[in-house]
Amino acid sequence: MTKPLPPVLSRPESDTLQARVDALLSRMTLAEKIGQTHQVDAGGDTISDDLRRAIREGQIGAVINQTNAETCNELQRLAVEESRLGIPLLCGRDVIHGFRTVMPIPLGQAASWNPDLVREAARLSAIEARRNGINWTFAPMVDISRDPRWGRIAESLGEDPYLTSILGVAMAKGLQGDDLSGPNSIAACAKHFAGYGASESGRDYNTTNIPENELRNVYLPPFRALVDAGIATVMTSFSDIDGVPASANAFLLSDILRDEWGFAGFVVSDWDSVRELSVHGITGNDEEAAIAAVRAGVDMEMAGGAYLEYLEGLVTSGRVRMETIDRMAGNILLIKMKLGLFETQCGDPVALPEHGSEAAIEISRRLARESVVMLRNDNEVLPLRAEKLASVAVVGPLADAPTDQLGTWVFDGDPQLSITPLQAIREQAGNRIVVHHALGLRYSRDRDASLFGEALDAARASDAVILFLGEEAILSGEAHSRADISLPGAQAELVQHLRQAGKPLILVIMAGRPLTLGNVLDASDAILFAWHPGTMAGPAISDLLFGLASPSGKLPVTFPKSVGQIPIYYNHRNTGRPPTSKEMVLIDDIEIGATQTSLGMTAYHLDTGHAPLFPFGFGLSYARFDYGCLELSGDVIGPDDVLTVSVNVTNAGDRAGDEVVQLYVRDLVGSLTRPVRELKGFRRVSLVPGEQQTVSFELTARDLSFYRRNKSFGAEPGDFKVWVGGSSAGGLSAGFRLSGTGAG
Ligand code: NOJ
Repeated sequence: MTKPLPPVLSRPESDTLQARVDALLSRMTLAEKIGQTHQVDAGGDTISDDLRRAIREGQIGAVINQTNAETCNELQRLAVEESRLGIPLLCGRDVIHGFRTVMPIPLGQAASWNPDLVREAARLSAIEARRNGINWTFAPMVDISRDPRWGRIAESLGEDPYLTSILGVAMAKGLQGDDLSGPNSIAACAKHFAGYGASESGRDYNTTNIPENELRNVYLPPFRALVDAGIATVMTSFSDIDGVPASANAFLLSDILRDEWGFAGFVVSDWDSVRELSVHGITGNDEEAAIAAVRAGVDMEMAGGAYLEYLEGLVTSGRVRMETIDRMAGNILLIKMKLGLFETQCGDPVALPEHGSEAAIEISRRLARESVVMLRNDNEVLPLRAEKLASVAVVGPLADAPTDQLGTWVFDGDPQLSITPLQAIREQAGNRIVVHHALGLRYSRDRDASLFGEALDAARASDAVILFLGEEAILSGEAHSRADISLPGAQAELVQHLRQAGKPLILVIMAGRPLTLGNVLDASDAILFAWHPGTMAGPAISDLLFGLASPSGKLPVTFPKSVGQIPIYYNHRNTGRPPTSKEMVLIDDIEIGATQTSLGMTAYHLDTGHAPLFPFGFGLSYARFDYGCLELSGDVIGPDDVLTVSVNVTNAGDRAGDEVVQLYVRDLVGSLTRPVRELKGFRRVSLVPGEQQTVSFELTARDLSFYRRNKSFGAEPGDFKVWVGGSSAGGLSAGFRLSGTGAG
């Protein structure tokens, strides 16, 4: 498993920097200190006179959305050469899954379960961004997301705290590099603190209600992991939690983040979320909003301007203390120093690789390939046997959509770099296989069936049909939630229409969220779920279709059968009446006029049962992996012991492939009801046909710890169950006992 990030700086260096910060603060006026807490939008082609003046006067600590290298350099020059104290600027931009070269959306990256690739992708994205003067980004987003209606699930790393923690740290490590002051490192930002993913009904910006044990056991662990790993900044959430909006939430920002976890970077508000405190109705006007945010622990205001307008008066009138402003400005200056900005603001862009470098393109292709999850493959219709194929139909609105394949948050992504599936399949087919291309639908929401006939002709003329469906990029991401998460437009009808051709029907779905697949599932022979794969969607998917690589992605989030099942996630609690398939009476089993029955009185829906469409961790392969010989190093462990869990994994198929071996545990009796399973480890292994590997995991009392009923963190002695397998359902299992008083 991945090692934690090294701290941003070792103690002595930190101490020296802190002394420099203190010395600088002692020379600053109140207005200059407040200037550091103010971030403004500096997008656009020119620098306005107002912005120039404000920078010269030391009224700005950070800008956002300027991505032109020369303009960023000019902004830095103004700050460093023409302001009184020469304090450099933070130049922020959302580099969420790539800059010019676009990597898969974060949810897709999570499906790779490959922290090394995720880190490398972030590293290359940071290098591209830094070339254009960006030194701070607003990633990783580590909001636990259990609701596929929420458009921002696309930006998340899925539903699981452990997987999100490991991959979030990998992403931060890639962005920040080994040394934050390195020439191609940028400061990362853990967002959105906290609980944003729990927005009611998946409607963006909506209220959240999260009990403290759920908050601490599910939503906070990835943030804690990032703080421990040395993340430079944290962003507040737009949402309110238990009645208090995050930007005014001292419990989150001060008690937990600073006091309990010792966070040493700075906290930035989300866009205008300080003034929005008054829209929430927790404050009455912008001035009160500024006071609330400052008191809660927001160091920098992103957009809005309430800090700039009111803080000076508030200090003068004694409502905000000078020490508070010193602390806020000091936190920001410390990160600027750690970034080495006082020494070098602009860097030498030419020294960094070009955008779309060979390395970036290669990682984009590998990560896209590893992020694709095969959901179905009847009769081994995949991989396509090129030697037996004379023609193939490539159909659908996403077969040749260079921008949509990039997904959400790609302001800087270059669609010119995109290679679409149609291009890649044509390249792979060469002169040997005829490719019939038809749109079927012009875009994913299209309801016009007038191109169906042409698509059916293409299908009839071909040996196999590859149908590229899904969501356009604009249907997920911030403020793009959906209440119906089926394939939009007439796509389901297109699937049924093409069925008439009687040819093997392979669906490739590109989307920003899990989709309910309805009758599309049974109408297809194979499904590759590709998320929005980014620049190299085409080659990555073509590699899998033609068997140059085997699918190896695993779902980072549960797929529901219908929206009514949401929230549905693997690590739920048991309830007093857990469902079992045996006792379930479904809607059509109930006799007409039946009186209330004692059958089926368990936690399920009459119409969908209790199981998801596909469970967390699920994904098929061209290889066949057998699990055997599960062994535990003991059946009782003490609080300081290490339990080794090992299993033999064999590739019993006839193709090479990667398997993500997953370890889950269940704490059978706890002071709080415990999840039926929790992921505690995973390992990606590559096996050629016939090869066997022993995969071992280590478990300690710390891994079994949680926030308990008495609000302390630790493990509780008792019986545990452990599973190892290829998904969160099934697997080999065994039991062990934790003795003694447990950790902590
Ligand atoms: C609002 C989004 O919520 C946040 O994730 C993003 O980083 C900021 N805007 C800046 O664009």
